[in-house]
Amino acid sequence: MKPDALNGLCPYYTMYPLNFPLRALEEHGKRGDWVIDPFRGRGATNFAARLLETPSIGVDSSPVAVALAKAKLASAEPGQVVASAEAILNAAKAPTSVPSSEFWKLAYHDNTLTRLCQLREALLGECSSATRVLLRAIILGALHGPRPKGTPSYFSNQSPRTFAPKPNYAMKFWTARGMYPDDVDVLSVIKTRATRYLAYPLPDIDGKVELGDSRVADTFSDTPKARFVVTSPPYFGMRTYLPDQWLRLWFLGGHDYVEYRQPESQLKHSNAAHFAAEMGRVWKNVASRATDGARLIIRYGGIHDRAAEPMDVLKKSLIDSGWRIVTVRAAADSDSGRRQARQFQSVPKKAITEHDVCCHLA
Ligand SMILES: C[S@@+](CC[C@H](N)C(=O)[O-])C[C@H]1O[C@@H](n2cnc3c(N)ncnc32)[C@H](O)[C@@H]1O
Repeated sequence: MKPDALNGLCPYYTMYPLNFPLRALEEHGKRGDWVIDPFRGRGATNFAARLLETPSIGVDSSPVAVALAKAKLASAEPGQVVASAEAILNAAKAPTSVPSSEFWKLAYHDNTLTRLCQLREALLGECSSATRVLLRAIILGALHGPRPKGTPSYFSNQSPRTFAPKPNYAMKFWTARGMYPDDVDVLSVIKTRATRYLAYPLPDIDGKVELGDSRVADTFSDTPKARFVVTSPPYFGMRTYLPDQWLRLWFLGGHDYVEYRQPESQLKHSNAAHFAAEMGRVWKNVASRATDGARLIIRYGGIHDRAAEPMDVLKKSLIDSGWRIVTVRAAADSDSGRRQARQFQSVPKKAITEHDVCCHLA
């Protein structure tokens, strides 16, 4: 079993490969330096820091990102996670609320949905232990995905795994193909996944995972001084982080329907200049928490639905931010140029090359 297994426990929309933060920290850092990621997503930077026995802080304004990143810093035995799920299900009464629209009936078998609702209600009531944090993230990772020919590894009817199906499209898709959800053995999926992701013991390292808006200076007020900031901000035009995660958000206490409104806590994509200014606020905030000689390492790219040149947007955001660009390199991972752009179309267009930008404190 590989030590990086835990990083794969749930895909995240626009995730970067673990290699990126690992290489950045290995190249420039030493054990014990604090690392900040102000756009943390699923917590790959926190996880890379943990593997390198280095403390880290991650901030993100999406509750899904928080739930996943907390799990990247948690430790428990697979058996403890399974026992915790079993205890919840054995003690559970009928759930107080079960979504009942047509979409939900086609997305999940009645029995599967009842168990998911029981787990959801228990975890919403109490999720402070490492075991429950890991259980919650494992469920988020299994909530929707493809239906294999053999034993199910996801709870849902056929779906994408990275982002949640949109109800109208999914209902047409399932009905046209006569696809109905399986009665999935929820506990057995949790057991398989816990065994896969938690088999390798990892060091317990200092780390903080905050739900917050990185444009707000106060978000970083308790942050120790860091020598590294390693991150990947939203690409200009990518505004669907929350609607695309609506089923996982539901499991975390959100609505049982898609909310398309862009929340205030996400960077605004109204125009390139405004977007760059918003990113610039984040760079200033992290500069104020950086030690002498600190590095800011950014992976940045773009999507096809905007005319703005991604690197121009990023460079603009760094002007007067407290950081000075030292190198700009095309991202080394062969697949990386497609990674963030690919989720926008089923047949990916040629991706816009991603760049890794290294800055020093000015
Ligand atoms: C490109 S993703 C990061 C992906 C991450 N590198 C990974 O591998 O999972 C950008 C993240 O920025 C977050 N975000 C957007 N606006 C934010 C804000 N104002 N403050 C904090 N996070 C924000 C989004 O929720 C999203 O998770």
